[in-house]
Amino acid sequence: MKDDFWYKNAVFYEVAVRAFKDSNGDGRGDLRGIAEKIDYLQILGVDCVWIMPIYPSPLKDDGYDVADYYGVDRAYGSLDDLKGLIEAAHSHGIRIIMDLVLNHTSDEHPWFQSARSNRSAPYRDYYVWSDTDQKYKDARIVFVDTESSNWTWDEQAGQYYWHRFYSSQPDLNFDNPKVQDEMLNVARFWLDIGIDGFRVDAAPYLFEREGTICENLPETHAYLKRLRSFIHEHYPGRILLCEANQWPEDVRPYFGDGDEFHMAFHFPLMPRIFMALRRGEVGPIRWVMQQTPPIPPDCQWCTFLRNHDELTLEMVTEEEREWMWKEYAPDLRMRLNLGIRRRLAPLLDNDRRRIELAKSLLFTLPGAPIIYYGDEIGMGDNLDLFDRNGVRTPMQWDSSPNAGFTTESPYTELVKGDLAFRNVNVTAQLRDPHSLFHTIQKMIALRRRHAAFGGSSMEWVEIGNPTVAAFVRKNGDDVVLVLSNLSHDVQSVVVPPQYREDCLDLLSSCVVSLGAELELRPYSYLWLQLPNGE
Ligand code: GLC
Repeated sequence: MKDDFWYKNAVFYEVAVRAFKDSNGDGRGDLRGIAEKIDYLQILGVDCVWIMPIYPSPLKDDGYDVADYYGVDRAYGSLDDLKGLIEAAHSHGIRIIMDLVLNHTSDEHPWFQSARSNRSAPYRDYYVWSDTDQKYKDARIVFVDTESSNWTWDEQAGQYYWHRFYSSQPDLNFDNPKVQDEMLNVARFWLDIGIDGFRVDAAPYLFEREGTICENLPETHAYLKRLRSFIHEHYPGRILLCEANQWPEDVRPYFGDGDEFHMAFHFPLMPRIFMALRRGEVGPIRWVMQQTPPIPPDCQWCTFLRNHDELTLEMVTEEEREWMWKEYAPDLRMRLNLGIRRRLAPLLDNDRRRIELAKSLLFTLPGAPIIYYGDEIGMGDNLDLFDRNGVRTPMQWDSSPNAGFTTESPYTELVKGDLAFRNVNVTAQLRDPHSLFHTIQKMIALRRRHAAFGGSSMEWVEIGNPTVAAFVRKNGDDVVLVLSNLSHDVQSVVVPPQYREDCLDLLSSCVVSLGAELELRPYSYLWLQLPNGE
């Protein structure tokens, strides 16, 4: 595990700890549960697991409301359990990163309890207070379905406090040097335990300034650079992954000159993969890739299709959002804030061809892909559950009662209907050589073997058909032509002369002789290795 640039060609996997595997029969998933399933993750082929927040928390935002930065919530286990998980993962060649929630705490955090008690309380300045709710009017509200203002009046404090998310999550005051230092201590604490890095939650919002949208401010970048240089100096090889739901030109500064984040999620690409699939044309993906500026050589995008939040439609136009809602969330219960609270398989009508095609795009476009737990087997969601809990249901391990997730009654209702555990589960898919799991496993293995996918180069190939995505990935001698038919019809493409050769079809291991024309079956995809140095 010596390579400091391991993240550049890694496959990531996001785990909701509470939902993954219960090891002690209390109905909730825990750290030991993940450790028990490390073999499974190794078989799948992932390089790094991101675990959602494990801090003690009142769980009003599933742990993103931190009540103690230096502990593990008892429901998930102990610090020793975390060390055990890291050890188990490392011995299987897998790294573990966790959430670093810098921007806010829970209102039950002792700092906030102290801060609200009176104006001269020692922690008062840890938060952002005001006598009016009229400041920072240009800042948008993120959770539009639940919050009507970023200010909430606190009776005890006699002032309003600032919060970008739920009112139960007061923002920390990064203008206070003590807060800045404290959060470096938090990072140090977990790095000393052995964590391999952080997914930095809600990175754009650390500072507030009048007359701005209070996102992406220079002060915020300056602090994040400080965090990076601290890690660079003391913990080389550990990474920072940025959650900034922004347009590519606004995310770009989070990479700095290679001196801020190692990685950042590519938010605008994600909805455009779904758009392209539904419209049956490559335009949206080409457009967003054109908008994506180059990043410093040691940085990497993290690409995704789904995660624990709603499928966010913040990075699309209003018209596109309406269209996405109409196409992918016809039932109003599927909509949440500015997004869609559904999982991958139900979004794509559980159509195996489209699920595979979406994954194929994810694995072949530039960036390091992340899989949301359960999407590798095509798990469903549960719309009866509140807010984003509908996509955070227990992992479906087998067909025994409670899906093999727990021996007792689970903390929440499971998925019902066609995509419930009796039909969709790990054990059955491991047994079936043709399962979705095995297809994804194969894609991951091929990705790992081919340097082309970890590089930054990607060139569109003109094939005279906008229904087919055609691009070449190249890194040194490794050159792969990727063709994806985004429609439900057979499509033919004109193969440019320089590619009319014998190629190796990586997914079938057969040699394909490319002529002037090629026909692609509906929703089919080809990864073709071109002769060396093409
Ligand atoms: C991030 C998380 C989300 C959380 C929010 C507030 O967007 O992904 O789950 O609610 O931050 O911490």
